Amino acid sequence: MNNSVNSLSTEELSAIDEELEHAPYRSAVAIDALKIVQSHRGWVSDSSIKEIANYLEMSSEELDSIATFYNLIFRRPVGENVILFCDSVSCWIRGCAKLEKHINKTLGITRGQTTEDDKFTLVPVPCLGACDKAPVMMVGDSLHENLTEESINRILEDAAVKGKER
Ligand code: FES
Repeated sequence: MNNSVNSLSTEELSAIDEELEHAPYRSAVAIDALKIVQSHRGWVSDSSIKEIANYLEMSSEELDSIATFYNLIFRRPVGENVILFCDSVSCWIRGCAKLEKHINKTLGITRGQTTEDDKFTLVPVPCLGACDKAPVMMVGDSLHENLTEESINRILEDAAVKGKER
């Protein structure tokens, strides 16, 4: 593979190469490669898809469909903090719909939207695996459990002050 036609950074390439060392074939690391590029760039653009696909010797269409299927790969720019808001059954039973409305009102955004100041993007996700602590959400890498309107206010205020939580 000729790296000179590829604008993936040295860091991105070496992280992908590390994954490739344990992979049976290049396209087996598709999701890992998408996550690596997203961790450096915040989201995965069309040109990034082409670059990654080229490096993994697969078609852009094939990689794009993997990225689209995997809902934690962002195909549009996102805010500094991505709120992964669980709307699956346990969280729903424990009132997540009301809490989501609270976030909508507080931040002025609905699902898939980003605040005008680019601080937050709201993304609904299936079960985050913490059903016994429902309702839950993640902001950046932090899981927040047993949410209430008050705790959400605190979490959002902290994240807005701290900035990027990726
Ligand atoms: Fe929300 Fe499982 S249903 S964490």
